[in-house]
Amino acid sequence: MGVERRRFIQLGLAGTAAYLAGCTDAPTAALEESPAEKLPQGPLVLSTWDHGLPANERAWEVMRAGGSVLDAVEQGVMVVESDLSNRSVGLGGLPDRDGHVTLDACIQDHDGRAGSVAFLQRFEHPISIARAVMERTPHVMLAGAGAERWALENGFSTRDVQIPEVQAAWQKWLERGEYKPVANIENHDTIGMVAMDAQGRLAGSCTTSGMAYKVHGRVGDSPIIGAGLFVDGEAGAACATGVGELVIRVAGSHTVVELMRQGRSPAEACKEAVLRIQRKHKDLKDMQVGFLAIRADGAYGGYALRDGFSYAVHTAQGNELVPSAFG
Ligand code: GLY
Repeated sequence: MGVERRRFIQLGLAGTAAYLAGCTDAPTAALEESPAEKLPQGPLVLSTWDHGLPANERAWEVMRAGGSVLDAVEQGVMVVESDLSNRSVGLGGLPDRDGHVTLDACIQDHDGRAGSVAFLQRFEHPISIARAVMERTPHVMLAGAGAERWALENGFSTRDVQIPEVQAAWQKWLERGEYKPVANIENHDTIGMVAMDAQGRLAGSCTTSGMAYKVHGRVGDSPIIGAGLFVDGEAGAACATGVGELVIRVAGSHTVVELMRQGRSPAEACKEAVLRIQRKHKDLKDMQVGFLAIRADGAYGGYALRDGFSYAVHTAQGNELVPSAFG
């Protein structure tokens, strides 16, 4: 069956009319201005922040070369994991309060198979270890020393990285050593990626070095299926960025996908997850959370707690950075 025909069947009559007209899927008034609430033709890759642009480029190339959407979301975020100038993803990330860079990542496919690693040190590509956990073990999540030992036993090697700028920043933080982790509210944080291939199959990935100067042992939302990432090919895919504790408390990405299953548009679903966070927390000053989502019919959107969150969207028309709706 051709892709266009399959897409029309997925959308039904009303959806097809909107698709042909290039229309959005009935956004709420508050979200009408969102430029991203639309149905693209063909494959689609979304990822968080500016670093999403090169990640999307790679993911797109992988699919164009015949790779699966799962290959695409793995290899897309690997670009950012390898970028040692990035201070919130990979081995270039800022350390915890004891000076250790600890990494969290997860991956999930269209059928809900999932793999995850948490509190991992000295590996360049936690996302690939997460995928290996999914494919080579009966488990979903490995953490800490056990995850590191398993990775070594399964062909992954460690890499030691010393970055003077990172050491200096940590030393400076230690001067006051406030028991207060630092959250990124603009420009960067976790990379979360959700993607759909030309056959409508979904996958997602999420990887981070977590919050700067966190307590040693702290794990955020990024490796937790349902928090930092959730994919269910029947309903959609969502990922999160920002202060992980806020996302975990509302099972953020799972919430977004379930709301899409109930008929909400992607941006509306992301907004409702943000509203839940707002309702449950009195003081969100200096905190940011953002969600991205693709619905099973290819509609997509995002929403953030505050201004400053942008995400990269790659469609057949190109790869661009889109400012997220917020509020
Ligand atoms: N969202 C990344 C973290 O909180 O660790």
